[in-house]
Amino acid sequence: MKNKKIRWGIIGLGHIANKFATDLAAVENTELVAVASRNLQNAKNFAEKHHGKKAYGSYLELANAADVDAVYIATPHSFHKEHAILCLQNKKAVLCEKPFAMNLQEVTEMIQVAKENDVLLMEALWTFFLPHFTHVLELVKSEKFGKLKNLEADFGFHTPYNTASRLFKKEVGGGSLLDIGIYPIFAALATLGAPDSIAANATFFENGADASCDMVFQYDGAKATLKSTLLEETPSHAVFTFDNAIVKLNRQFHQSKCITIIQHNTEEIMHFDFKTNGYNFEIEHFNNLLRASKKESNIMTFDFSKTLIKTVDNVREIIGLSYPDSF
Ligand SMILES: NC(=O)c1ccc[n+]([C@@H]2O[C@H](COP(=O)([O-])OP(=O)(O)OC[C@H]3O[C@@H](n4cnc5c(N)ncnc54)[C@H](OP(=O)(O)O)[C@@H]3O)[C@@H](O)[C@H]2O)c1
Repeated sequence: MKNKKIRWGIIGLGHIANKFATDLAAVENTELVAVASRNLQNAKNFAEKHHGKKAYGSYLELANAADVDAVYIATPHSFHKEHAILCLQNKKAVLCEKPFAMNLQEVTEMIQVAKENDVLLMEALWTFFLPHFTHVLELVKSEKFGKLKNLEADFGFHTPYNTASRLFKKEVGGGSLLDIGIYPIFAALATLGAPDSIAANATFFENGADASCDMVFQYDGAKATLKSTLLEETPSHAVFTFDNAIVKLNRQFHQSKCITIIQHNTEEIMHFDFKTNGYNFEIEHFNNLLRASKKESNIMTFDFSKTLIKTVDNVREIIGLSYPDSF
């Protein structure tokens, strides 16, 4: 069972599906058996590029395919619940992109369906499995540098406002908070836990999607200052201040391959080199859960996913961000 080959399918063949499929090929005992697009030709092209065995022109066909063990869902946020449930009800294990769904109610429903069908479900928050972040989690847990007192984390880039793009389209969950704000929030929850209180404010595009969001999470003895923006390039760092050291996750902190440890007026850079995009770490974890017949991750637990989306819901309420169809 340890080496059992896991047969994967992918739904929604856009930007991230391409990167994921590239890394899937680097994971041992893993096979891309099927891909599904709303457009059959698109699926055929993707299958050819990534050596997928079968190409389907509908998501339902892939969900029904008997030779698929696990499905990676890479559609826009507002479809995660629908597509995850489609696969879960067809007894497929599901790895679903972040945000897990549009709100806590949807996430709770997905988890319920996974339990009813006795299948594995996990949110694809890949940072949790990356070596640099795992190292930070160990530093927090071991209190090697004392207690964590402060976190400053931002994620920002500029791309022209265009409502044809998923990033800005309100109907599919567009805006900075759900797309990239989730990473600084994740960093705070994974290291400091759920905050005692939240302050937040945002700016908005003309269609009502949030352009930027500033957040402050208060804890007993700690604070997290977080930011997401689609309006400008920001350092995209995460700076963890402990009692006795500062640990900085360098640019694109959510996927950084190096961190800087500042202590006693000296800087030490630690490198975490790997040749993939980094999605292989979550894939390996998921494969091992599946091989061990687990139905829930011990790292990206259901409770963590629920706390994460509940925190996003709270921020949305504070900044007044609502989505159509009562999301
Ligand atoms: N973990 C990460 O690093 C990371 C990075 C980027 C994005 N993401 C997440 O992955 C998800 C997809 O992001 P992406 O950047 O890959 O988006 P994308 O390039 O727009 O791809 C999304 C795909 O979803 C399918 N889709 C189904 N219904 C759609 C609709 N109504 N409108 C548009 N697309 C539709 C399309 O595939 P078909 O035409 O093939 O059906 C489309 O190519 C998002 O939830 C995002 O948060 C994660």
